[in-house]
Amino acid sequence: MRRISSRLLNWYRQNGRILPWRGHADPYAVWVSEIMLQQTRVETVLPYFEKWMRQFPTVQALANASEQEVLNAWEGLGYYSRARNFHKAAKIVAEKYNGALPRDLDELGKLPGIGRYTVGALASIVFGMDEPALDGNLKRVYARLFDVRETVDSSEGERILWRLARENLPKGEAADFNQALMDLGALICLPRNPRCLLCPVMEECKARKNGTQEIRPVKKAKSETPSYVHAAAVVMKRGRVLLARRPSKGLLAGMWEFPNVRVDGDPAGALTKAMKTAYNLRLRVKRETDPIGMFRHAYTHFKVTVHVFDCELISAVMGEDLTWIPLKDLDEYPMGRVDRQIAETIRQ
Ligand code: ADE
Repeated sequence: MRRISSRLLNWYRQNGRILPWRGHADPYAVWVSEIMLQQTRVETVLPYFEKWMRQFPTVQALANASEQEVLNAWEGLGYYSRARNFHKAAKIVAEKYNGALPRDLDELGKLPGIGRYTVGALASIVFGMDEPALDGNLKRVYARLFDVRETVDSSEGERILWRLARENLPKGEAADFNQALMDLGALICLPRNPRCLLCPVMEECKARKNGTQEIRPVKKAKSETPSYVHAAAVVMKRGRVLLARRPSKGLLAGMWEFPNVRVDGDPAGALTKAMKTAYNLRLRVKRETDPIGMFRHAYTHFKVTVHVFDCELISAVMGEDLTWIPLKDLDEYPMGRVDRQIAETIRQ
């Protein structure tokens, strides 16, 4: 075995994190963890994982759940298409594979939400196959270990890194080796200020040798993310509040929100007019200069500031995506972070 892998495996056996899905006999538990960990840190995932496994303990239980229940359980983890895809995939696995994840890598990769990284993670961790798994963290680790100059998010960079990952995989040890790299990336080989002096493979690391660890990995220059301003309406009627359901495709698909529009200038002024055209709602903003609040959130590709106003309903043509929800039931309706903050604010 190469020195890198033996050192990393030794380090992992002594320093690897103890995580509830590690050593779990149930492939479904590993699947849950891998989907949750796709864009989210371990510390954030831990409470969600435990709760999820109680609420949906099997593939079948997940397949039988409603989309609303699934999105609700996912709320706060972000990137909600993961939850919708996972739900779809669970239905396929329940029906087509009798509840068991397929061992065939092509079949696995056809399931919604399972891309190249997750195929590798499941194949190695669940089935013990000799498969690499590269996510952003592992790309950073490999880019440093081998001092890769190519941009890691280019197709050439990807090709180089996947080849390195495959070449360096110790036979029969892929589950531990892949997870050793994950822990190294999370604990030692940090994006900024890597803790090289604690690293078990410091001597093997080419970036460390060349002094380039701080400038690896090389990434494509990001374009500036745009910022938008929205105005949202809180409309109450006898203990109920008006919510709108988002379209079934795209950002926060199928989740609930306070009726809102993107505005250019003065938010309160634009709200009344836009509500009529976007939702068929005639509203009056009650206190234009005294909004309920202002909420900000950064999504992957843009930032948004939402000005929220208390509004009086004059008339509504209720489309099927508008509904009156009792204040006490707001928790049951899955929402993005901004709308959940609005919901918490108006309930106080
Ligand atoms: N990130 C993705 N999968 C992981 C795992 N199995 N352990 C730790 N971090 C991870």
